[in-house]
Formats: sequence, C-alpha cells, structure tokens
Amino acid sequence: MSDTFPDRETVRAAMALATRAPSVHNTQPWRWRIGSHSVHLYVEPELHLIHTDPDGRDLLISCGAALHHAVVAFDALGWQPTVRRFPNPAEPHHLAVIELVPGTPELPDIALAAAIPRRRTDRRYYSGWPVALGDIALMTARAARLGIGLRRVKLNDVLTTTLRQAVSHNARDLDYLTELTVWSGRYAALAGVPARSTPTPDQHAALPARIFAGAVLDQPAGTTAEDDNGSLLALGTSTDTPLDRLRAGEATSAVLLTATAQGLSTCPVTEALENPECRSIVRTDVFGDELFPQMLIRVGWAPLNADPLPSTPRRPLADVVSWFDDDSS
Ligand SMILES: Cc1cc2nc3c(=O)[nH]c(=O)nc-3n(C[C@H](O)[C@H](O)[C@H](O)COP(=O)(O)O)c2cc1C
Repeated sequence: MSDTFPDRETVRAAMALATRAPSVHNTQPWRWRIGSHSVHLYVEPELHLIHTDPDGRDLLISCGAALHHAVVAFDALGWQPTVRRFPNPAEPHHLAVIELVPGTPELPDIALAAAIPRRRTDRRYYSGWPVALGDIALMTARAARLGIGLRRVKLNDVLTTTLRQAVSHNARDLDYLTELTVWSGRYAALAGVPARSTPTPDQHAALPARIFAGAVLDQPAGTTAEDDNGSLLALGTSTDTPLDRLRAGEATSAVLLTATAQGLSTCPVTEALENPECRSIVRTDVFGDELFPQMLIRVGWAPLNADPLPSTPRRPLADVVSWFDDDSS
C-alpha cells in the first residue's frame, strides 16, 4: 500500500459505503472519479427531478450526503480526508475534491462508518419513547461543526396545515405524480424507492408523508400515529447557495448516521420544502426568518415489534465510480 494514497481495494470499500447515502427518490445523482492523488465528486444533472425538486436543492443535498458518507468511510479506513468544495468555479458540476493522508480512526469515526450499512429510511410510525435530549444535542453539535443549524420543530396548527397543503398540492400535480411513479413502486430496480420500503400514507398524521407508488410495507402491529413520539428536526443555513445545500447534505448524513449509531430510526422529509410558499412558512415558523430551511428529518425509536427493513437498491459501483487513468472510464 502506498503511504500517500489508498490502494484500489480501499477506495472501492469507501465508495461502496458512499453509495449507501440517502438520496431524493433514491436517484443516486452522483458520480465519482478517482485520480492518483485525490477523489472527485460530480453531480449527475440528468438525474435532477425537475418536477419534484425544481430548485435542485434535493439534488445537491443528496450529493452532500454521499460526500459525507465518503469522508466518514475514508476516516474509518485509516485515511484522513480534507475536502475542497466546488474546487473549480468554471465547472459547477464538480462538487468536491477529497484529499487523503494516512490517519488513525477514532471511535466516533468507526461508529459512524458502522452505521452506514445499518441506516434505512424508516417511514413507519415510531414508538412512544421520546428521543433523549442528549442525542439531539449530539446531532446538533455535529451539524454545527459542518456550519449547519439544527432546530427541533414543534408542530403547531400552522405548520401542520402547511405540510398538508404541500402534499395535497402535489397530489393534483400530474408532472409531479408521473415523476414519482417512474421513481417508486414497481419501477425501483437499481434506483428508486421500492414498494417494500413505503407504508400506506396516513393522511391524518401530523406530519403527512410523501405518497409513493404501490406502497406495501405494513405498520408494526398495534402502532398508531397518535402514539408516535418521534421528534422532527430541521436543518437550516444562513444563506441559500449551492455550497449551503451541499453542506446541508453533509449535515443530513451526519445527523442520520449519528441517530442510527444511537439506535434511532430516521426519515428525511422534504416534500414541504420543495414548495416555495411552504418553505417560506417553515423558515418563519421554525427559524424566525434567520435560516433557510434545507431539510426536515423525523427521528424516533422503532417499536420493539417492528421488522427490520430491507435495504434499498443501489447502482453497481462500476456505473458510478471511474478511475482517471482507466481507459474504460
Ligand atoms: C434530499 C432528500 C430528500 C428526501 N425526501 C424524502 C421525502 O420527502 N420522503 C421520504 O419518505 N423520503 C425521503 N428521502 C429518503 C429517500 O427516499 C431515501 O434515502 C432513498 O429512497 C434511499 O433509501 P434509504 O435511505 O433507505 O437508503 C429523501 C432523501 C434525501 C437525501
């Protein structure tokens, strides 16, 4: 093994973990290119969901989550990463360069990396157990280290109505529904959200869920929306640039992996933020107009009788990772 750059097997192991990152509709809108001294992340603009995510915010958040997964993976594999974001202003699709030097992983790095294969988006009801304030404080600290604000959301009538409006607005939008159908249910093979990962949405839940195609996942027996004592967290940034969105994706990954490592279940929820009016109400209500909302995350304890969730599919590594010196790339 070189002492200046990891060998291919190590890079492949890190990339395999990076591709486990969450992404909007499981589009996996990233591409990795490996140089002789650095690892490069690009966004795949063809995988932008123009009707779901007209602003392209979820697109960049998804890539930011993959970036943070890669950083966590390299750290745990003994390579200390340094990240440069948007390294070339003339090339906006080139999102980040990771440079690596040998390092010694610390226990929190290993715990976060070990959480990557165990994390699932769990859209079912959570149990009545509250999320400990200490766990939320740890998530807040890790988001803050990435420059992102985290607030616990207290759902009130205004917010609940706003969130419901976003869902019912989309339920009447044919372009949105067509895109959702293409990316969920029976079409989910190497990408997309499989039917087995989505329960039938409960339109009376305080936080209405996105209505994916063909939902077949059962709620754990005896659980109800009323008993769900999960917390809703919001991530926000002081400005609203592509860099903020990329960083918000990194913080999303940090929060999800921290929660998973603590034994908690998680579910990113962005439908309301994809609607400009709803986003503006969330900005006022949750952040007092100080931060721009980028992501909402449900966090909670799964009921003891909840079956483990199957993992969602990913594209093969060869489709998303290439080497600069490889003729086949
Ligand atoms: C930017 C972003 C937005 C997302 N929005 C939602 C959402 O509104 N509702 C939802 O149920 N899941 C949402 N997800 C979760 C994805 O659907 C999920 O990550 C993907 O299907 C892969 O599954 P996994 O997280 O279990 O690996 C979102 C994820 C990201 C990164």
